[in-house]
Amino acid sequence: MIRDLPYYDPDIDIDPVPAAAVELRRRLAQADGIILFTPEYNFGLPGGFKNLIDWASRPYGNHCLVGKPVAVLGSSPSGGGAAKSVTYLHTVLPLIGVELLDEEVTIGNVNKLLDPATGSPNPELADQLASMIAQLAAAAAAKKAQLT
Ligand SMILES: Cc1cc2nc3c(=O)[nH]c(=O)nc-3n(C[C@H](O)[C@H](O)[C@H](O)COP(=O)(O)O)c2cc1C
Repeated sequence: MIRDLPYYDPDIDIDPVPAAAVELRRRLAQADGIILFTPEYNFGLPGGFKNLIDWASRPYGNHCLVGKPVAVLGSSPSGGGAAKSVTYLHTVLPLIGVELLDEEVTIGNVNKLLDPATGSPNPELADQLASMIAQLAAAAAAKKAQLT
């Protein structure tokens, strides 16, 4: 879906809104919690990912991410673990009303942590991901309870 999104431009964010953006907003709005998992391009968020955030973040103050529990993690084949992308998201998303999990999860040297045949994470990484998912599920449940 990320490939179907046109570059964000307020001039095309009008009726009829591009179908890929409508679908993106629908899916994000119906989610109880969201995991944003990013690589890093040239020490920053990949352009397509930034574009997704731009589409999701409109209309201003009343968009599909407001109050949404979100977990952010990054990975890279190098040691950095996409830290700059993750830090960017941690800095910016709260400014647009997202309820982030506190922890910044960066997974460096990710290729060495995955089984080459299956792509499955090693036990340590699997535990780390499971812990993050459990935290997100708890935040999503708390949010739901708050709203009902
Ligand atoms: C244009 C480009 C820029 C990249 N810049 C970085 C970088 O700044 N830091 C890093 O750790 N890896 C960088 N990489 C390596 C990516 O982390 C690696 O290719 C990763 O597998 C990309 O994931 P993707 O295939 O899901 O986009 C870059 C790769 C590309 C294609």
